[in-house]
Parts: sequence; C-alpha cells; structure tokens
Amino acid sequence: MLNTKVNFLDIDFKNPIITASGTYNTQAYKEFMDLNKLGGVTLKGVAKEPWLGNNTPRIAEVYGGMLNAVGLQNPGIDYLIQDELEILKAYDTKVIVNIAGKTIEDYCEVVERLQTERVDLLELNISCPNVKEGGVAFGTDPKSAFEITKEVKKYCKQPLVVKLSPNVSNIKEIASAVEDAGADALSLINTLIGMKIDIHRKKPVLANKIGGFSGPAIKPVAIRMVYQVYDEVSIPIIGMGGVMTGEDAIEFMMAGASLVAVGTANLLNPSASVNIIEQIQAFMQKEGVKDIKELIGAAH
Ligand SMILES: Cc1cc2nc3c(=O)[nH]c(=O)nc-3n(C[C@H](O)[C@H](O)[C@H](O)COP(=O)(O)O)c2cc1C
Repeated sequence: MLNTKVNFLDIDFKNPIITASGTYNTQAYKEFMDLNKLGGVTLKGVAKEPWLGNNTPRIAEVYGGMLNAVGLQNPGIDYLIQDELEILKAYDTKVIVNIAGKTIEDYCEVVERLQTERVDLLELNISCPNVKEGGVAFGTDPKSAFEITKEVKKYCKQPLVVKLSPNVSNIKEIASAVEDAGADALSLINTLIGMKIDIHRKKPVLANKIGGFSGPAIKPVAIRMVYQVYDEVSIPIIGMGGVMTGEDAIEFMMAGASLVAVGTANLLNPSASVNIIEQIQAFMQKEGVKDIKELIGAAH
C-alpha cells in the first residue's frame, strides 16, 4: 500500500496536492472533479469588503505561462463564509483561506472573522504584485514582513502560513523574518512581475500594464527558492509555481515542500490537480517509494 498522507502542522492531508489561491473556485470546480480527492483547496484571496479588481484586459497568454492583473477581485469575507465555506462543509478536503488586505488592521479583521469557521489553515498573502495595496509592500521588506506576521498571528485560531513574493533579492532573509515573527509555515512562490507589449498598438497588453507571471516558465525560480528556504527555516513549506504534472510536484517535494499547490494548470484543465495526484502515485509505484514523506527534502 502506498502512503500519500502528509501530516502538515498536525493536520492530516490525504495527499500533498492542494489548489493555489486564485486559480480555483469551489462552485465551478465541484462540477468537474471530486473535491474529496484533493488534499486541500486554497480559496481566492479574501478581504474585509468586496473588491472590484483591476480594469480589463487583465489576463494575457505569454510563452511558458500567463500574465494576470486581476487585482485581488473578491466578494469579501461575508460572502466567502456564507457561500464557499458553506459548500465546502460537504467535502472531506482541507480548506485554506488566502487573506488579502490594504492595512494590517484589515488583515487582522478578516482573520478574526474566521476564528470560528471550519478553516484548516490561513494563508497570508503579502505578495500580490497587481494592486498597490495588495500587500506586496509588506512582502518585499523583512521588517514589514515581520511586523504584519506578528500582528496577524495574534488573531489566528488556525495555523498561519505566510505566502512569500519571489520579487525580492534575498528570499532567505524574508523567510527568516517571517519565521521569527511566529509564522507556522511558509508558502512560495507567488507570481513574478511580468509585462507584454502589443506591438501593433504599441501599448502594454494589460490595462494595469504589469501583471503577475505564472505557469511552467517560473518553475525553476520557484524550485530554487523552496530549496534555499528549506535550508534556512525549520517551519514547513507549501511549494508552488508552474506545477503541471506529478513529476513537477515531486520536484517541489524533493526541494523541500511538504504540500504542493497547483495554480495555472487548473485554468487550462480543471481536473489537473486530480491528474497530478494519480501521476504521483504512478511515480511512487514505479520507483518503489512506499511513503510520500520519503520525498520531502530528498534532494538536500
Ligand atoms: C489568475 C490568478 C489569480 C491569483 N490570485 C491569487 C490570490 O488571490 N492570492 C494569492 O496569494 N495568489 C494568487 N495567485 C498566485 C497563485 O496562487 C500562485 O502562487 C502562482 O500563480 C504560481 O503558481 P502557478 O504557476 O502554478 O500558477 C493568482 C494566480 C493567478 C494565475
């Protein structure tokens, strides 16, 4: 029997595959796959009040991935509780809520609202590159990253995962600051900053001009950061960035991730995450890996 279970911060995930924030919607995706097959789902970043997001066009295809400048559009915490969390009660999959905010107080308020909800992990997004107030200022400076983590942690009933931005020169420094501030785990990476020009119009394609670059092309950057951070901190890591196949997910685990999130791949194929779980099982069978835990950090 293969063991694909991962214990992450005392929570049993049936397998290490979760969806990445912003690339999955419970209402839509439950029609395409059995959510019970997933280790967990991460919901789109949610703020205190509904946000409209950026002007369109806000998505563009690029070589090796995509650009998005959705700008953390979300219906607000009340809606999330009444709608998505309500639907998810019917499923036996772990629930991770991604939190957005404009100020530290905003983040704290959302976290406080979730104290009594059936949410397994909180993921603090201090790394959105597409909105001025989307937290990226908190995520690119070790002092600010420390401060917001410390403050938000006071309101958390569930374990706190802090999602890091790759748009920094020293990822280890940010990871350490967040660990020192009391984060229970880290997730990385969020999108890189990218841009595309329409050469006929001589204008940027996105209304926002710049956007978050995701998809297979960012995987080597993400693997490098997970690998470096694994050596730097002693808290567990959720890895993501360009995972398209089971082999990609295994690479993240060997770099040091305990859980792996699938993002852009979900937008191409809603059952990508379930396929990835099957591909991991096939790899384990073929390579004689009995327990998936053997893979975590195996490349160090
Ligand atoms: C359309 C879109 C929306 C996203 N929204 C969020 C979000 O609300 N919060 C967040 O932390 N990350 C968000 N992300 C980043 C992803 O969760 C993930 O970190 C990133 O896309 C890298 O993984 P991937 O290459 O597998 O997509 C978004 C990504 C995309 C493509």
